[in-house]
Amino acid sequence: MSSITTRRFLQTAATLLVGIVLAACGKQEPAPAPKAAAPAAAPAPAAKVYVVGTDAAYAPFESQNEKGEIVGFDIDVVKALAQKAGIEVKFVNTPWEGIFNALNQGDRDLLVSAVTITDERKQSMDFSNPYFDAQQLMAVKSNSKIAKFADLKKLKVGVQNGTTGDEVVTKLQGKDSANIKRFESTPLALKELEAGGVDAVVADNGVVIHYVNNNVGAKFKTISDASFVAEQYGIPVKKGNAELLAKINKALADIKADGTYDKIYASYFGAAPGAPVAAAPAAAASK
Ligand code: ARG
Repeated sequence: MSSITTRRFLQTAATLLVGIVLAACGKQEPAPAPKAAAPAAAPAPAAKVYVVGTDAAYAPFESQNEKGEIVGFDIDVVKALAQKAGIEVKFVNTPWEGIFNALNQGDRDLLVSAVTITDERKQSMDFSNPYFDAQQLMAVKSNSKIAKFADLKKLKVGVQNGTTGDEVVTKLQGKDSANIKRFESTPLALKELEAGGVDAVVADNGVVIHYVNNNVGAKFKTISDASFVAEQYGIPVKKGNAELLAKINKALADIKADGTYDKIYASYFGAAPGAPVAAAPAAAASK
């Protein structure tokens, strides 16, 4: 750098700094607008609407109400994120089977579907920072003798096809086991348990507990197991979509910092984030 350019650089930097300091000091003092701010902003392009895929058969995370609207914890979180990020979103009900494909094909821009972040999935999609802690939980009939996960080794178990619940049961029974009944949705698996077609269902704790509490007539109890590892939900975007991912992560940090996340959490789960969902009374009380 020649000394003239250096001096000019320093002058410009000083002017900018004064401007920033003045701007920070008080609203009445109009800061001298730096030259660079002068050119008129380019006309805003029509706002993009981000399409959010969700398998809306997963209360309380995502489900459809009587009016057919998609509602739930995940939905509220993404709405809050969108508001923070200043983007528009539209939720589209998308079957779990094929949901990752829809993302990869570009038919969905992001997913919110209680998707557990796994190493395998990270190879084909990018995940936001985690927004929810979960783990597997068993549901069995209240009068069942099943006491632990290992008891399911030779029994008929219902899972939602392609979920982490499917993964753990497949690991227990072996991938060729004919005793794993794979359903399109978790509620369907739980209906089958009620009908006596399977001996147990293994699925995400939040969903199992919600179902048990809302279907008292089904006479289920829940069983946790030490072998169930901690899982975390993340928001997948198409691999390489760093721009959207950065927006989501920034907005997620913002809603956690300003209390919005805690408010949404409390409205669905009652307890503060961090308190284990599995601590709900269903498991102990029904023994
Ligand atoms: N957390 C589990 C997984 O990622 C199950 C998610 C299923 N979500 C849904 N909306 N059906 O495999």
